[in-house]
Amino acid sequence: MPFSKQKTDRMILATCRETLPGENRVSFVPEGIPALAKLGFEIMLESGAGEAAGFSDHAYRERGTRLESRGEVLRQAQILCQFHAPSSEDIEALSPGAVVLSLLYPFSRLPLVEEMAKRGLTVFAMELLPRISRAQSMDVLSSQSTVAGYRAMVLAASSLPRFFPMLMAPAGTIPPARVFVIGAGVAGLQAIATARRLGAIVEAHDVRPVAKEQVESLGARFVGLEMEREKAEDASGYAKAQSEEFLRRQRELIATQCQKADVVVTTALIPGKRAPALISKEAVERMRTGSVIVDLAAEQGGNCELTEPGQTVVRSGVTLHGPLNPASALAPQASLFYSKNLQAFLTLLVKDGAVQIQPEDPIFEQTLVCREGQIVHEAVRKASEAGRPASAG
Ligand code: NAI
Repeated sequence: MPFSKQKTDRMILATCRETLPGENRVSFVPEGIPALAKLGFEIMLESGAGEAAGFSDHAYRERGTRLESRGEVLRQAQILCQFHAPSSEDIEALSPGAVVLSLLYPFSRLPLVEEMAKRGLTVFAMELLPRISRAQSMDVLSSQSTVAGYRAMVLAASSLPRFFPMLMAPAGTIPPARVFVIGAGVAGLQAIATARRLGAIVEAHDVRPVAKEQVESLGARFVGLEMEREKAEDASGYAKAQSEEFLRRQRELIATQCQKADVVVTTALIPGKRAPALISKEAVERMRTGSVIVDLAAEQGGNCELTEPGQTVVRSGVTLHGPLNPASALAPQASLFYSKNLQAFLTLLVKDGAVQIQPEDPIFEQTLVCREGQIVHEAVRKASEAGRPASAG
């Protein structure tokens, strides 16, 4: 489609360069532009927004994207899509009434949410999408966890000073590496699948009994503790926080497993809480020299007591990686996934060239945080009110 400077009455769907240090991803990829345009949008991009993900301005322009300065994009955007929530400065530059789609984590960023409401923005938190079949194609947590799980295992394999697969050579036979994965959600299952493809023997542990079947279907062995399903997971399938007694028994089991492993990948998370500390300092000390831990829970404090978020350290001869934002390391494809997630969400949100929010649809009910100057998400609103000094009402 030839690039046209003519003003159109199509809605302007826009994105800007991400400003978080180390963030290489971008919300739209060139190959996804035609499908977004087909939804009836004019697409606008800050010049250079795709560069860190390996996408040139030319590649976007060729597909009919309008490239502008950041200020101009923010001023004109009717729907702004980002990985990370806009800064205070960007919020000021957006026009009242604009729609913002991003990962938001509103409970830990209430002042920013309040600023967005005050500015009159309509704000969706993409990480709050319900985990239902209909929302699977929009599920950014799943798409990025898939990338992170793969990345974690490849990182482990490249820093392990031995082979993953069994090797039979004239010089001798080498047994396969032993891998232990803690947390068999989306990232954990992808880590298991990757380790299996590389030829390792894999064991995995999770508190949710339903994970057993999924682990076994990938050719790995499930290592569990007896537990009733209701105590393990909440209504939406997420793990619940466990009692101290359970965690003590679990830490013992994990220490024994870690001692046998060459590689440990941990992904255990509880939504909205600090990650459970499952690998103690003593468990690391009992591991073999040269073994590797990749702690994908580093961003939420880490599953290993010795994890230093954002760092790689060696402790008692064990290499311990605490990557932050591991999906950014595979930025082109992580961006492609997100672009598809957004496309699916926008298909539902925009009808006949206008934003149409069906408030009773759980997809909107759970993700819509601000609208018409108000915080409309009940739990976020309550948290905001609770945080306000009494004198302020
Ligand atoms: P997550 O990233 O919140 O947690 C990762 C894993 O850690 C989970 O499997 C969790 O059970 C486990 N975990 C938490 N605390 C633990 C502990 N103390 N010890 C051991 N393991 C622990 O989970 P994720 O990957 O986001 O998936 C959450 C749930 O949502 C899962 O049931 C998953 O199957 C489901 N899901 C459903 C989808 C859908 O139907 N649309 C899409 C994606 C996930």
